[in-house]
Amino acid sequence: MRILVLGGTVFLSRAVAAAALAAGHPVTCVSRGVSGPPPDGAEAVTADRSRPGALAAALHGRTFDAVVDVATMSAPWVRDALDALHGRFGHWTFVSSINAYADPSLRGGTVTQPTLAPLHDQPDQDLTNRDPGVYGAAKVASEQAVRERAGDRAHVVRGGLMCGHGDLSDRYGYWADRFARGGRVVVPDVPAQPMQLVDVDDLAAWIVAGAADGTTGTHDGAGQRSTLDRVLTGTADAVGADDLELVRVPERTLAEQDVAFWAGPRSLPLWLPESLWGMVDRDVTTTSTAGPAARPLADTARAALAWERGLGAGRGRRAGLTDAEEQAVLRALG
Ligand SMILES: NC(=O)c1ccc[n+]([C@@H]2O[C@H](COP(=O)([O-])OP(=O)(O)OC[C@H]3O[C@@H](n4cnc5c(N)ncnc54)[C@H](OP(=O)(O)O)[C@@H]3O)[C@@H](O)[C@H]2O)c1
Repeated sequence: MRILVLGGTVFLSRAVAAAALAAGHPVTCVSRGVSGPPPDGAEAVTADRSRPGALAAALHGRTFDAVVDVATMSAPWVRDALDALHGRFGHWTFVSSINAYADPSLRGGTVTQPTLAPLHDQPDQDLTNRDPGVYGAAKVASEQAVRERAGDRAHVVRGGLMCGHGDLSDRYGYWADRFARGGRVVVPDVPAQPMQLVDVDDLAAWIVAGAADGTTGTHDGAGQRSTLDRVLTGTADAVGADDLELVRVPERTLAEQDVAFWAGPRSLPLWLPESLWGMVDRDVTTTSTAGPAARPLADTARAALAWERGLGAGRGRRAGLTDAEEQAVLRALG
């Protein structure tokens, strides 16, 4: 199977390219070439998808058995890619997101759950805008374009919360790094909060297998259902330092200390308000029969820690508490 990865140099799309190579498939990756090279063994093609016609010119006359597109925000990019390769692809996977669903509070939802209204045309769209509503609506429009143009050869994968090697979001990686450094660590005291991580390498392997065996339709690419507390405890067991102590801090104290949910500065990553618990509590029983296989959490924790260490100690982080912020929360506990 000759597979084309639109992307292939970052996190998930890079893992897809690597998984395809490991399975013995010839791989071509298209990117601008600014985020680094694709994995060794993949063909690198340079094209800027924001330039009309660039992709069509770069892939002129080429035919692929399978295409995997991870375009994050832009339905026009998705349409252009499908048009550029019209009649010259077998199977098409589009990586969408759980953010496509209209109600993020609904727990145990499946792919039949209503999605947001599509955001089709974004001529001046800021592609760095990660407002969940805009992002989710752009994904819905992209999904529609894929179904219209690829028909019964389309596989739409609504990605859940991804983690592991190559993750630049600093969310799960914050915990692996922080636990490995040890001492008293602030964690949210939320025993009931669900959590559902998918290891990027498990998701990538499942996407490649789906392309090879012709899996079509729409699936959630989410992991096994768990709780945040179990995930944090399991991560601590796997990579925590000997002197690690988890200090469970009530949500009220965290709010008083201006600690943010989910991600970003001064946050406890992956902690979510109840109104968003449905994002990390999908019913994946239909997906799970075929994958993604879930490797042990300890393996994911070790991969995330190795990635963190490769990025270097003491770097500025996109998510989490600084040591000084964490100390302030601990002092507030008295
Ligand atoms: N992270 C999560 O938890 C999560 C959850 C749900 C869904 N998702 C979805 O999962 C996917 C993640 O994809 P990813 O990990 O591969 O990262 P990504 O940042 O979405 O993909 C970036 C890739 O596209 C290339 N690219 C960027 N701009 C380009 C342009 N103008 N022209 C051509 N290529 C361009 C990049 O290479 P260059 O920069 O070199 O061009 C890189 O290879 C996305 O679809 C995202 O929406 C993620």
